[in-house]
Amino acid sequence: MNLKLEDLPGVGEATAQKLRKAGILSVEDLAALSAREIAQRVEGLSEDRAFSLAKEARRRLGIGIYTAKQYLEKRRSQPKLSTGIRSLDELLRGGLEPGITELIGGYGTGKTQLCLQLCVTVQLPPEKGGLSGKAFFIDTEHTFSPDRIPAIAQRFELDGDSALENVLATYAVNTDHQMELVHEAAQYVKRENVKLIIIDSLTAHFRSEFPGRENLVARQQKLNALIHQLIRLSMIYGVVVVVTNQILDIPECFPGMKPSKPAGGNIVAHGCTFRLWLERSKDLTKITILDSPKHPRASTLVKLTEEGVVDADAS
Ligand SMILES: Nc1ncnc2c1ncn2[C@@H]1O[C@H](COP(=O)(O)OP(=O)(O)OP(=O)(O)O)[C@@H](O)[C@H]1O
Ligand SMILES: [Mg+2]
Repeated sequence: MNLKLEDLPGVGEATAQKLRKAGILSVEDLAALSAREIAQRVEGLSEDRAFSLAKEARRRLGIGIYTAKQYLEKRRSQPKLSTGIRSLDELLRGGLEPGITELIGGYGTGKTQLCLQLCVTVQLPPEKGGLSGKAFFIDTEHTFSPDRIPAIAQRFELDGDSALENVLATYAVNTDHQMELVHEAAQYVKRENVKLIIIDSLTAHFRSEFPGRENLVARQQKLNALIHQLIRLSMIYGVVVVVTNQILDIPECFPGMKPSKPAGGNIVAHGCTFRLWLERSKDLTKITILDSPKHPRASTLVKLTEEGVVDADAS
């Protein structure tokens, strides 16, 4: 289904142009925004009219009420994104799906390496575990390494140059910019066939810009808005979203308690659909499904190699 703005009742060329000028390029964009957001962006459009437009957009896209059976069939028909790691795909029952997947871990555990690998696997056709799409990579730590992409692509029998062309990468300089880039990503999703959005890392700028307890409320509010925009993007456009997150050491903790926890508190914990925890010991990284609405807690061992992240027992 490829609906245009002009396909909506009452949207003529002039209104469609006004919407496009405001960055609302597709019916999906309309469906994703609240009436207030649309009215604020589009000159001369009332909130009431924006409400009817957004409602009609959602109706046309089939965003409605389904039986659990229909829901299940819809989910089953959606291809999953292979992580490129056989044992992890098995634990995830096929791979990653729309929603936010959070990769949590300390320094050097392989979060960025796995993100780079997903930038490659997303390009594979569905029969090879991919989504035949592009990746949109928002780097906040200056650790995006394009030279790793051809090396990983080779393992999946993809041409290195084409693999590089299919990854759109950008650097977010601060939290405002990070938010702006997430909004911009929506425009690339349709235009460039983006099927995967990555933020590496979700929390780093927030931690440095809003230090201490006194800034906690403002930080969490902003982080919450960002996560909700990501959820909307994922649900309306059907893209897979992957974010990375650091762990914090807890200086005073009770005996037996894990002396570390993911950054971002409850907002991130509740906002992310699937949480994977990466822990490194010597040459191997243990990946644990920490939290998921549909998978049991389980772990697998992987290793970081020149060709990407592979099963620990891969030769
Ligand atoms: N070309 C390569 N060949 C083999 N291993 C590599 C290669 N490049 C990176 N690695 C491994 O990946 C590790 C870094 O992993 P990565 O950058 O994904 O960590 P991270 O979890 O993102 O850490 P941070 O929290 O610091 O961002 C290195 O310590 C190294 O062991
Ligand atoms: Mg990293």
